[in-house]
This record gives sequence, C-alpha cells and structure tokens, in this order.
Amino acid sequence: TPIPATLIPGDGIGPEIVEAVVRILDAMGSPFSWDVQQGGLAGIAACGDPLPAATLESIRRTRLALKGPLTTPVGGGFRSVNVRLREEFGLYANVRPVRTMVPGGRYEDIDLVLIRENLEGLYVAFEHYIPVGDDPQAVAISSGVNTKAGARRIVEFAFEYALRNGRKKVTVVHKANVLKALTGIFLETARAVARGYEGRVAMDERIVDACAMQLVLNPWQFDVIVTTNLFGDILSDQMAGLVGGLGMAPGANIGPGAAIFEAVHGSAPDIAGKGVANPLALLLATALMLDHVGRGDLATALRTTLDAVLREDNIRTRDLGGTAGTSDFADAVVRRLAG
Ligand code: NAI
Ligand code: MG
Repeated sequence: TPIPATLIPGDGIGPEIVEAVVRILDAMGSPFSWDVQQGGLAGIAACGDPLPAATLESIRRTRLALKGPLTTPVGGGFRSVNVRLREEFGLYANVRPVRTMVPGGRYEDIDLVLIRENLEGLYVAFEHYIPVGDDPQAVAISSGVNTKAGARRIVEFAFEYALRNGRKKVTVVHKANVLKALTGIFLETARAVARGYEGRVAMDERIVDACAMQLVLNPWQFDVIVTTNLFGDILSDQMAGLVGGLGMAPGANIGPGAAIFEAVHGSAPDIAGKGVANPLALLLATALMLDHVGRGDLATALRTTLDAVLREDNIRTRDLGGTAGTSDFADAVVRRLAG
C-alpha cells in the first residue's frame, strides 16, 4: 500500500526541482502517495498564510513530508516557516550528510554526517535591547537555552544513527571553554551518553573553532559530528562546501511526531524559472526519506543511479561545471533507471 506523504513544492526553484524528483520517483515505482500542499510565498498567494492550516493538517496526518525551499519574506513580520515547522512537530534532529559525488574537486572521498540540535541553543532567540542615554537599542542581549534532556536526546540520536549506519565515531562539537554553562551542559551530557556506547561507537570532542579549521585541513578524520543549533547551522554549510556546494546537501528534520525532508539550500531566486537548478540536494533528501520509511532498497538504487549519471554519463548542472538543465538531468536519471 502506498505511503501517504505531504509534498510542498515551495518557492523559487522549488517547483522545478520537485517536478524532477516526482518524475524520477515515478520511474522507480514511487512508494508514496502525495498530498500536495502549499507553503511560503505560494502559501501566501493561495490562502494568505506562509504556513496554511491545510498544510499543517496534512503533515499532522501523514507525519511525513518532502519540502521544496520556502522563501521567508524579509520584514513583513513573518517568522521563518522552517523554524515554525520544526517547533510545531518537535523536529529536534537535523541530519545533514555530505558525500563526494563529483570527482576532481578540491576534496575526494568525503563522507560525513552532521547531526544538529534543531530546537534549542541560541536559535531560541530570547532577545532584547537595553537603552543607554537616548539610544533605545544601545545594548543587545540574547539568551540561549540548552537542556540536559535536549542534549541527551540529540546525542543519543547521533550514537544510534552511528550504530544503524555502520559509523565508527561521533565527534561532539562545543565551546564549553567559554560558554561554560550553555555548551558545558551539552558536553557533559554527551560524555555521559557516550559511556553507554563504549566499545561500539567511539566518542571524540572538539571545540567549534578548531573543528572548523580541521574540517578544511583534514576532513577525513571526522565521521559523525553532533552539535548545538548555531554551530550545526554554520558547520553544515561549511561541510557542503567540501563536496561542491549547497546543490549537493540534503537535510532531514526528525522528531517523534513527524519527519520533514528538504534540501539545505533556499529558493534561489536568482535562477528561479530558468530551468537550471540542480535537483541533486532534493533527490538526496528523497533518498533519506526512502531510508526513513524502510525502503533502503530504493534509496540505494537512487543514490547509485545519481552517481552513475554524474560520473559515467558526465551529466551535470551548471553549478557543478556542466551544461545540463534541471530536466536534462532528470531525463538522464530516468534513462538510467529504465536501462
Ligand atoms: P539560496 O540557497 O537560495 O541561494 C544561494 C546561492 O546558491 C544562489 O546563488 C543560488 O542560485 C545557489 N543555489 C541554491 N540552490 C541551488 C541549486 N539547487 N542549484 C543551483 N544553484 C543553487 O540562499 P539565499 O539566496 O540566501 O535565500 C533565498 C531564499 O531562500 C530566502 O528567502 C531564504 O529565506 C530562503 N531559504 C529557505 C530555506 C528552506 O526552505 N529550507 C533554506 C535557506 C534559505
Ligand atoms: Mg543554514
């Protein structure tokens, strides 16, 4: 029986890359039955809300979504729809794998996974100003929130992920030397969790700034990285840069109530409507979604086919130095699947 799932085409390049994904999935024998819903600017256009009630209800029902990028209007009083979705469904784990797929770049054989805490830390953004003299905003104050329960949950998720996926080491990234309470609680909790995995998954620690440097000098020393919200946001973009950029980076937002799969990149307004967007990040997110629903067979087939199209057929979109458009790339994948 087909698996009900919510499909949000999104904004900008979203509908173009979603169309490519749907066509490729259909060619594989898609296990999903899509409930198409709107969000972002498309949500505002359809019903005056970037996160329409119908979209939320759909995800509440399916507990599973594939999401194109959503434009968050700057100003206008809209909170990020992505942050709202994470909060609404308690999506505490953000899984961001990166892998070298196109040879000949600055780095070869990269295969790393960053697991980012998705609900706490400085992104709680409890912020306010303190006036001094006649300047009402002379001082800005921001409080981060990390909890033992939140740290335990995400670090356990990382170790369980490592076990399930045959990974050998989890590196805990922190700044406990300076933010002794905020990130000390994360490090101490992580150390306690790691003891439960001794002999099965190794544990390692890095201070975030040194980690950023080491990711450039010798990324191969890492395997799975687990860290707090802000550090994870920054390091995951850096890691995407190791494998060719944002066009290659998928993400999974996972919680007890639902899972939402997406590309790490945004709606790319500069190339929207031109048919040149790279659909790989969303295709790799689709592979994560197939893994999540127990269709690892289809996920592996999809990844193998994408590798073959990139490496053997040499078909690549412009961001990877090729000339293919979005639908040329999808055609090549469908051809491989058929042949
Ligand atoms: P962006 O990721 O949309 O674009 C950054 C650069 O990367 C642009 O030059 C773009 O052309 C290029 N790029 C991105 N994805 C690509 C792809 N698949 N193929 C080829 N090139 C690609 O970031 P930007 O411009 O900062 O944000 C645009 C909008 O997207 C904003 O409204 C932002 O809020 C939203 N956004 C949404 C996200 C989501 O829904 N998960 C995540 C990040 C940003
Ligand atoms: Mg980011």
